Amino acid sequence: MRVTLAQISIPLLVVALHVSYVAAVKDYLFKNCENSGFCHRNKHYADQISSLGSEYKSDYSIDANSVEVISGPDKFFIQGQIVKVLPNLPEEKVVLPLKISVLEGNNIRIQVDEAKREAINIANKFINHQRYNETSNWAFVNQELQYVKTEDADLKKSDTKFSITYGKSKEYVAELEFYPIKLTVYHLGEAQVVVNDRGFLNVEHWRPKDANADHLSPQESDFNMFQDDFKDSKEDSLPLGPESIGLDFTFKNFRNLYGIPEHADTLNLKDTTESNNPYRLFNVDIFEYETDSRLPMYGSIPLLLAVKPALSVGLFWINSADTFINVDKSNSTKDSKTHWVSENGVIDFIILIGSTPAEINKNYGAITGYTQLPPLFSLGYHQCRWNYNDEKDVLDINSLMDQHQIPYDTIWLDIEYTDSKKYFTWQEDKFPDPEGMLKELDLTGRNLVVIIDPHIKTGYDVSNQLEKKKICMNDPSNSSYHGHCWPGESVWIDTLNPSSQSFWDSKFSWDKKNKFTGGESTNLHLWNDMNEPSVFNGPETSSPKDNLHYGGWEHRSVHNIYGLSFHEATFNSLVKRLDGHTRERPFVLTRSYFAGSQRTAAMWTGDNMSKWEYLKISIPMILTSNVVGMPFSGADVGGFFGNPSKELLTRWYQTGIWYPFFRAHAHIDSRRREPWVPGEPYTSVIREALNLRYSLLPVFYTAFYESSTNGSPIMKPIFYESLNNLESYSIEDQFFIGSSGLMVKPVTDENANDITIYIPDTEIYYDFTNGDLSKVGWYNVRKPGYIRKDVTLHDIPVLIKGGHIIARKERYRRSTKLMANDPYTIVVALDKYGHAEGNIYIDDGESFGYSTSGESINVHIKYSKDGLTAHVNGSNKEYINSLGNIGIEKIIIISPFKLIIENPKLKINSDWSIQIILDIEHDEL
Ligand code: NOJ
Repeated sequence: MRVTLAQISIPLLVVALHVSYVAAVKDYLFKNCENSGFCHRNKHYADQISSLGSEYKSDYSIDANSVEVISGPDKFFIQGQIVKVLPNLPEEKVVLPLKISVLEGNNIRIQVDEAKREAINIANKFINHQRYNETSNWAFVNQELQYVKTEDADLKKSDTKFSITYGKSKEYVAELEFYPIKLTVYHLGEAQVVVNDRGFLNVEHWRPKDANADHLSPQESDFNMFQDDFKDSKEDSLPLGPESIGLDFTFKNFRNLYGIPEHADTLNLKDTTESNNPYRLFNVDIFEYETDSRLPMYGSIPLLLAVKPALSVGLFWINSADTFINVDKSNSTKDSKTHWVSENGVIDFIILIGSTPAEINKNYGAITGYTQLPPLFSLGYHQCRWNYNDEKDVLDINSLMDQHQIPYDTIWLDIEYTDSKKYFTWQEDKFPDPEGMLKELDLTGRNLVVIIDPHIKTGYDVSNQLEKKKICMNDPSNSSYHGHCWPGESVWIDTLNPSSQSFWDSKFSWDKKNKFTGGESTNLHLWNDMNEPSVFNGPETSSPKDNLHYGGWEHRSVHNIYGLSFHEATFNSLVKRLDGHTRERPFVLTRSYFAGSQRTAAMWTGDNMSKWEYLKISIPMILTSNVVGMPFSGADVGGFFGNPSKELLTRWYQTGIWYPFFRAHAHIDSRRREPWVPGEPYTSVIREALNLRYSLLPVFYTAFYESSTNGSPIMKPIFYESLNNLESYSIEDQFFIGSSGLMVKPVTDENANDITIYIPDTEIYYDFTNGDLSKVGWYNVRKPGYIRKDVTLHDIPVLIKGGHIIARKERYRRSTKLMANDPYTIVVALDKYGHAEGNIYIDDGESFGYSTSGESINVHIKYSKDGLTAHVNGSNKEYINSLGNIGIEKIIIISPFKLIIENPKLKINSDWSIQIILDIEHDEL
């Protein structure tokens, strides 16, 4: 087929509802480093050591004789012993077994335990005395890590140090010095990470309370070792006394650090030394959280990325206890110094090194798993509020969406749908026929998500069974713990207990008589909230740390993985429920999460506020989540607490359409604000935004597919594509969508008339504002920098970077399901050299056929001087043929000129090529 230049266009380039909401996070309810026993002590220790400088002689050394290499067909590690001397008890030595493994992907793992924990003698016989070492069981996708082969590493040992040379071309060296202990990881001879650089290694070993004084070194403080003075934590029995671990990591020549969510803070991590306000990882139900804060939030992922132009380093701290991370960028070197302390557990961390942050994402995903490929519907728009009141309300909203031509896929029910907050029940008078309601929604391909929380009201069959089966979280006397949450008095399912899975499965069973799940419906999905766990009358609004879980583990040890264990149980139950049915892929939203949560759930940023600063902060928060392998993330569109002005609501939709997880939600006291509520012109503007999201679903789905195979961010920071441009490292209000080349800068300021967009490189960028290509505007800067653009309320500033090809579906449909057979429009944006390429991933969007029988295709489209070619990659012929009805209705090629090929009569499932001769000089590009 030959096409000539068909259509050329020359390049061209309210009434606010006042919200009277007073933000006041109850930060005095949460511990800071000063009043947290273990953080206080480790900080004191670090300060003492720093002030002693070279005079300080460490109590820790590695016994050179103990170091040996263990290797076999599927294992290879170095083991040895760290010995801690006790200055007041010279004859007693604390032995800390050490293990160093070199893993595939240039990852090096260090584990340090404490020997002799069995001998501990305390009154409470239900407690497991060991240091908790099972965090990795929950975080890792596969317990069998891939070790590099012994012969692929060079080992050298002397009396003072040990070194391992590894990597494809032996470019990495890990050198372990025995005294003072120091581990340095080099890349091509240059130190990149130094572990224990400042000598803050601290393992608070077991000691009886009455002998404590003898066990302390002069640099240690005994603050809150056996009692907790903090407010409602005072009842913590601290049965095992001080158990904390601490270690410092220096990132050499790195000033840009990312990750360690969840905090309502900047993308690029801040120096925390001056404020003495380290980042805390401790999953909590934080009420009315503030922005610009290192306070803990609902989830935690202890992965930090350090990035510089030629190299990136990841540090994955595998510990699920309360953790603080101090970041010091204030020093005169070009290094970033960090200090990590956790309340208990083993020292277990992995250092990942790669040339780019994307490589770290890939290698980290190989360990913890990649994001699930979600059902396609869940990338559509989710309509939620606390609460839609009854069946009529739900179905009215459903029809109003159609009346107003608003595409949407899912309506949500918050806690009020239940009978007295008893999960797995319906409030009968308001929801007499859940199955009928689900069927009605299904007529237009819509879904229902209902909430189920881990606290189970006492005194009805579900909690009775939990207690009877002994699968509750227990109090220190090993009886089921009773606390308060939405339903009043409740017990908590212990999803760390393997027996709880089958019980949970039974609640979601595929059964006509299971009224909760709407009988045999396939369009019911789940929301797991309050799983930090939130306990209204507990310390820091959570579980007492001395509560007990399966295996006798204290809650203290497993706190940050409880949320993961809960949403994972729900996901597993839903997979079983849907097994063998057409729509097999479940959707689960969780509020609390940990490393590994990406495998089974989406997350959102919890209870934000209807204020401009929360709209703004949502972007760095979601970017951070994407950087640490949890890309399926979003924020409540409109803000949870309060009533947004019409302008704010509109701007929030225009931003929210780019969140990988896109849901509007509102507090029970807030006014209704569905898209038609603000009226014109807002409703039309919101509708346009929603249409843009739906038209770009092929882009989002392709980005999810890529992320599910290589861990790449879906909402991606700018610096990922401009590593040589340090100025781009702190851009946090602008982002790319996957590898599509779409670069978005949402308007997040009130009354904005213009906006500046950062162009990070000298590639050509085309104006794609509102997804509108009717005019071609383009930018090609000689030097990275800002451009200014006028904006109206209608405008969603987007550029597409030259060199990319994307696919769109341009027809309005009521839901994603109804778009399945719609034709594609292909947009080709040429780069400076007249090239472009892109990928479109397609499968049925709802079954596991893509993984079990290859029912998917990847269409690779490429533009070069000879024209445009498409190649379909896929292994299942039958599936490929089944896509025969889906055509390509338009191809738009943008260079400084525009060419539109209408109805090229091509199918998405077959290879094709079009010869196109564009008469453009490179100079024009
Ligand atoms: C807290 C959640 O963050 C919020 O989204 C939800 O509406 C309420 N719980 C009620 O379930």
